[in-house]
Amino acid sequence: MTDTSNIHDQRLLIVDFGAQYTQLIARSVREAGVYCEIHPFDVTPAFISEFAPNGVILSGGPETVTAGDTPRIPDVVFELGVPVLGICYGMQAMAEQLGGTVAASSVREFGHAVIQLNSESELLSAVNNGSGGELQVWMSHGDKVVDVPPGFSVTSSTPSAAIASMECSEKRYYGVQFHPEVTHTQQGGEILRRFARDICGCEGLWTPANIVEDAIIHVRELVGETHVILGLSGGVDSSVVAALLSRAIPDQLTCVFVDNGLLRKNERADVERTFAPSNALHLNLITVSAEDEFLSNLTGLEDPEAKRKSIGRTFIDVFEREAKKLPGVEWLAQGTIYPDVIESAASKYGKAQVIKSHHNVGGLPERMHLKLIEPLRDLFKDEVREIGLHLGLPRELVFRHPFPGPGLGVRILGEVNKERADLLREADAIYLEELRSANYYDKVGQAFAVLLPVKSVGVVGDARRYADVIALRAVETTDYMTARWARLPYELLERVSNRIINEIPGVSRVVYDVSNKPPATIEWE
Ligand code: XMP
Repeated sequence: MTDTSNIHDQRLLIVDFGAQYTQLIARSVREAGVYCEIHPFDVTPAFISEFAPNGVILSGGPETVTAGDTPRIPDVVFELGVPVLGICYGMQAMAEQLGGTVAASSVREFGHAVIQLNSESELLSAVNNGSGGELQVWMSHGDKVVDVPPGFSVTSSTPSAAIASMECSEKRYYGVQFHPEVTHTQQGGEILRRFARDICGCEGLWTPANIVEDAIIHVRELVGETHVILGLSGGVDSSVVAALLSRAIPDQLTCVFVDNGLLRKNERADVERTFAPSNALHLNLITVSAEDEFLSNLTGLEDPEAKRKSIGRTFIDVFEREAKKLPGVEWLAQGTIYPDVIESAASKYGKAQVIKSHHNVGGLPERMHLKLIEPLRDLFKDEVREIGLHLGLPRELVFRHPFPGPGLGVRILGEVNKERADLLREADAIYLEELRSANYYDKVGQAFAVLLPVKSVGVVGDARRYADVIALRAVETTDYMTARWARLPYELLERVSNRIINEIPGVSRVVYDVSNKPPATIEWE
């Protein structure tokens, strides 16, 4: 059996210079079975020494090393005695700081390129078996390295970049001008794996089974004999936390599911079924029916922020009331995941702009004097999903689209009431059912119906009716920070529109949202 008490001990440090793709580097390294963390380039040297990584990866970034006041690699990185891999800006900074030369360029090389290996490369040759000394890569850079530092050799070139990669085998320093972390670089994953596993000597302990075992040990140590409460929303993250904690501390966990009247159709029944006593995932689940309380607090509110605040406040009231009924609760479990952590720890300096994530229970732990337990805070979304499957959660739950905390409250534009919530629930259910049966549900990042605050004329039989308008939204996205409207087939849209108008008496018109994010957001409010 693998000793999982040290799955975090073998680890890489990813120094972030603000590139758009830094998280992809971390995900590739994790996929290679190696734990890694991203930290901004301006973390303290002491932190880096204490982190004691088995290797360091320097990310790309938007700046130029040819200007004096731009980010540099902390000196301590070169004092650790471990392998270092610089990617794009990271390679340029490495070249500049170790005695090479970088030339500024106003022309960007952007897109596919073929690099030619021109000497034996520890990093690249092993992944290059059978591809004739060439690698298909993806470039995105302006500046380039024109002289490598002393002790380095040039390992590959392209027609437009004489130094596409470099390495110093004595020190085990490597630089690549291209981006191995993006999927357009064929074998990019293998290159990062080669670095993390073979060159840095990490074993590949970061697997779903080990992550779960490790989390269980850690949770048990942390909570001892005390009790934990969890707000289970039915979303992926809180469901995975529930499944994990129910493995670790089955008798010390209470999950509270609040039915706020703003859930999707069948959502409550689905959650209750997934975690029912007859199920392997059985846990102590309390469902609170609070529809009336939420809806009456929303009466008269039309402003989106006022609605969000009202829903958040009511949630806290309801949750707190339930928690007080349970004796001896000391911990509040939350489904915080690694991207939320990176976002709040980002360097103040030139960090790729991020849009704040939405925290729906902000302030709750302090108010209730509870300590926070966040067993997913090291994990990326895809890792959370893998663990969910490993723990036996159903596939439909693990791969479901995100759903905002305020629920249909931000999809019913204008005032929210039960009648409008019921109408939207029906329209949304038809839309999702048709997406699933056309095999489009998994192809889009998020899809939902929105109830607009306008009426429109339609003719049904001989009668004109002045009724509601439903907008359909579907976006392709993986990070939810940018999104492209999904090109759904017209036939599918037509089927959804016909069904909504025919089956829901209060709807006279259906429209499709063709706005990208940015500038539009995914939700309408
Ligand atoms: P936007 O609309 O900002 O949404 O482009 C990005 C992602 O966040 C979700 N979202 C929320 N999630 N509480 C949440 O828990 C909220 O208030 C909230 N608003 C938006 C949205 O569904 C999308 O996945």
